[in-house]
Amino acid sequence: MPDFPCPFARGEAKPQNPIGNWLRLLMRSMILAPLALVWIASLAQEDTDRITGLVRDGDWQLVQANCTECHSVLLITQNSGNRSVWQSRLAWMVDSQGMEPLAVELEARILDYLEQNYGPRQSARRPPLPGYLLPENPYPAL
Ligand code: HEC
Repeated sequence: MPDFPCPFARGEAKPQNPIGNWLRLLMRSMILAPLALVWIASLAQEDTDRITGLVRDGDWQLVQANCTECHSVLLITQNSGNRSVWQSRLAWMVDSQGMEPLAVELEARILDYLEQNYGPRQSARRPPLPGYLLPENPYPAL
């Protein structure tokens, strides 16, 4: 027998300390629980294109090709509405913003995508801040 404690010795099992076990379990779950949450959140996230920010679904590339020439894609991704709302926005851009009318089939596919991925949303209806919540303006208003 060596006269120092051998790390490989199969001596008698140490008496278990139930409080120590609970503490160890608690410590492990404190580390693992947030990691598990991050993992679950990443699974639940929609698959969005890293460059445009558009949801990568169906005809998203038609939107990228036809709708980002004049303005940022954010105008689209921050908007929402049912099919007729989107249709009215396209009509408004044709009537007043110089957009070329889209071919019927192309418009239908773009509308399918928009209503599917950017449908009506409660959160998009936040009203503007009331005056008393705005920062003070030190300059005279025109
Ligand atoms: C010919 C240029 C042009 C093209 C192409 C275009 N838009 Fe626009 N769009 C505009 C302009 C100009 C505005 C107003 C920008 C602003 O308010 O700063 C606008 C605004 C918008 C808005 C915001 C409307 C609101 O209620 O505030 C949305 C949504 C939008 N466009 C979606 C689209 C989609 C979807 C397409 C593709 C089918 C598209 N646009 C293609 C010119 C264009």
